[in-house]
Amino acid sequence: MTDRVFGENTGHEQVVFCHDPGSVLKAVIAIYSTALGPALGGTRFYPYDSEDTAVEDVLDLSKAMAYKNALAGLDHGGGKAVIIGDPATQKTEALLRAYGRFVQSLGGRYITACDVGTYVEDMDVVARECSFVTGRSPEHGGAGDSSVLTAYGVYQGMRASAEHLWGTPSLRGRRVGVAGVGKVGHLLVDHLVHDEDAEVVITDVSEAMIDRVRLTHPGVEVVADTDALIRADLDVYAPCALGGALNDETVPALTAKIVCGGANNQLAHPGIEKTLQDRGILYAPDYLVNAGGVIQVADEIEGFVFGRAQARAAKIFDTTRRVFAIASEEGVPPAVAADRLAEQRMASSCFPATSDAPAAAPRGSPRPPRGSPGWQKATSCQSDWQKVASCEAGIGRRWPSANPAAVSRRGRCVPTCAPKQVP
Ligand SMILES: NC(=O)c1ccc[n+]([C@@H]2O[C@H](COP(=O)([O-])OP(=O)(O)OC[C@H]3O[C@@H](n4cnc5c(N)ncnc54)[C@H](O)[C@@H]3O)[C@@H](O)[C@H]2O)c1
Repeated sequence: MTDRVFGENTGHEQVVFCHDPGSVLKAVIAIYSTALGPALGGTRFYPYDSEDTAVEDVLDLSKAMAYKNALAGLDHGGGKAVIIGDPATQKTEALLRAYGRFVQSLGGRYITACDVGTYVEDMDVVARECSFVTGRSPEHGGAGDSSVLTAYGVYQGMRASAEHLWGTPSLRGRRVGVAGVGKVGHLLVDHLVHDEDAEVVITDVSEAMIDRVRLTHPGVEVVADTDALIRADLDVYAPCALGGALNDETVPALTAKIVCGGANNQLAHPGIEKTLQDRGILYAPDYLVNAGGVIQVADEIEGFVFGRAQARAAKIFDTTRRVFAIASEEGVPPAVAADRLAEQRMASSCFPATSDAPAAAPRGSPRPPRGSPGWQKATSCQSDWQKVASCEAGIGRRWPSANPAAVSRRGRCVPTCAPKQVP
């Protein structure tokens, strides 16, 4: 495990174990990177079968958030938290508040939000102890359910995929299979039916979820399970349920020419992206197209304005296009092109815009090697941001008035840190 935290090039900035025996809170917060600003990512509440599994998960998830936030153009690094336990039986006000105090103790290096097992009402409770919380309810100044813009972003990614493959972003008349019609999947079906007049085929393990979609869209076709869906005659496959949807069994059986869906971690193992490419299937990377939700909660930090957040989520169309263009130019699968683009932004984020140091490395530039002047600059900027953050925290100022993103902008390349005057 320490290899994964301290490992060269792959390491995390900070991993915090949080234990509150009174409320039985056991949580792990992982900050992969604050190169672009305070780490932003949700809290997963899940009954992990061991502490090791929970740590593995939080390390993977926080790294994925760093890539997602970078590609979404957000001034946020990547972080994530896991609470070990069954949310159905162990979620209490005391536990959520204890968790909030731990997040608060990080002084804004990590900003939390909802994830599997946590909901807007939980974030409202966490926010009673902590300033660094997004994904709250609209009654508490929050943006509410993030699946609204997640689904919208996936829809934009799908349009860009259609344009790349068929020369037009229109999905009219295309057969789109949606696996999982929960919060994200059912809103995606709304876009496909209302905005595109696409033919939609769905599946879900929950009858209630299927009934909800059929009530609004009686013309939608239903198949028995995901296995039947991937074998059905499809133009586009949209995995919107669990991770690992693209694996050694499913990819050879796919009929669709495009895969674009909301589920996280769709590629079951490294190498599957190449199998997709070899089969001529265009894969829109999951963390690129499902970034609408994090864009929504990030906007909340500035005081949520739906139109502004939606405009930013609409840019997923352009970024998806760009990723496909890089993939074609460089002869790599889109998943590799997306990783490169995200890594480039993280690596170049600390360069001041002067003649000897470009604000952003040109496309195709490798990440500065560890130990090189470029690398040192990037890492020292991170610690400068930390200094600014701790100065803010040190004078007892709470952040949501606050705009942590602005602090990160100020702090990113500030050589010294002067305490702020409090009015
Ligand atoms: N909600 C967001 O804002 C958001 C943001 C980014 C990524 N995601 C990802 O999108 C996916 C869906 O998230 P959600 O918020 O809609 O969750 P959800 O729990 O509301 O919906 C998931 C749906 O998938 C169904 N399902 C589960 N197993 C299935 C199976 N084997 N076959 C078919 N259906 C199955 C469930 O019954 C449920 O209806 C997850 O992978 C999540 O991590 C969500």
